[in-house]
Amino acid sequence: MRIDIITIFPEYFSPLRVSLLGKAAERGIIEFSVHDLRAWAHDVHRTVDDSPFGGGPGMVMTPGPWGEALDAVLGASSPRVVPPGTRLVVPTPSGIPFRQETAATYSRLGHLVFACGRYEGIDTRVIDDAKARVPVDEVSIGDYVLSGGEPAALAIIDAVCRLLPCVLGNEASTADDSFGGGTGPMAGLLEGPLFTRPRVWRGREVPAVLLSGDHVAIARWRRDEALRRTAASRPDLVAALPAGALDERDRQVLGEGGFPVSGEDMAH
Ligand code: 6GU
Repeated sequence: MRIDIITIFPEYFSPLRVSLLGKAAERGIIEFSVHDLRAWAHDVHRTVDDSPFGGGPGMVMTPGPWGEALDAVLGASSPRVVPPGTRLVVPTPSGIPFRQETAATYSRLGHLVFACGRYEGIDTRVIDDAKARVPVDEVSIGDYVLSGGEPAALAIIDAVCRLLPCVLGNEASTADDSFGGGTGPMAGLLEGPLFTRPRVWRGREVPAVLLSGDHVAIARWRRDEALRRTAASRPDLVAALPAGALDERDRQVLGEGGFPVSGEDMAH
């Protein structure tokens, strides 16, 4: 996969050389290219922003440098349409929610281009112009405001690249991730607690069932804990579980935790 990033802070992306993603880049699985937007600003101050038409606070990124940058990175020579498998991703708090399914979709594409805006955002005509050439996604990573698209792009790139074949080591299938969309016994639930050696640490013991060797009991305990944690942290996820996803024991665990379980479900 090829990933181009356009930003006024290229140094923001040095984490891409670290850890799992750094390894994948070294091995040639991912090819990162970070571009300084100011390379396409031609005045002496290399200006990339201006005050908004219509008034209002802050500054807007001016279309000139962005137009040239996208022409260069997307390949503007005729035909002015980019090859299939390319997507322009514009991180913005006003975008559609970026989710695990979005990450999975992106991981199947060959070329992602990230346009990282600063200030109040990018002149809207830049996005409209790009849409004539390439599929464009304006995406948000959550209901809070970051000072720029860069940290959001890093988060998105991490979520996408760990799904690429050969990027994760011999770790378990990503289908088992929280939000992994798997169909296994933990589908739709958050991960429960984890333990490793030593068996006792600061007087805290590892739950005995995990040492029992009883794999059925361990699986049931893990599901109980996942249900409790999901109900506590993300009640919306429990409410969204498909009909029939909860067995009798599941409803008992949720009920003991004070989680409302519908009377109809309880009847079975
Ligand atoms: Cl993608 N960008 C910015 N600037 N803020 C955000 C965001 C993105 N997602 C949530 N907040």
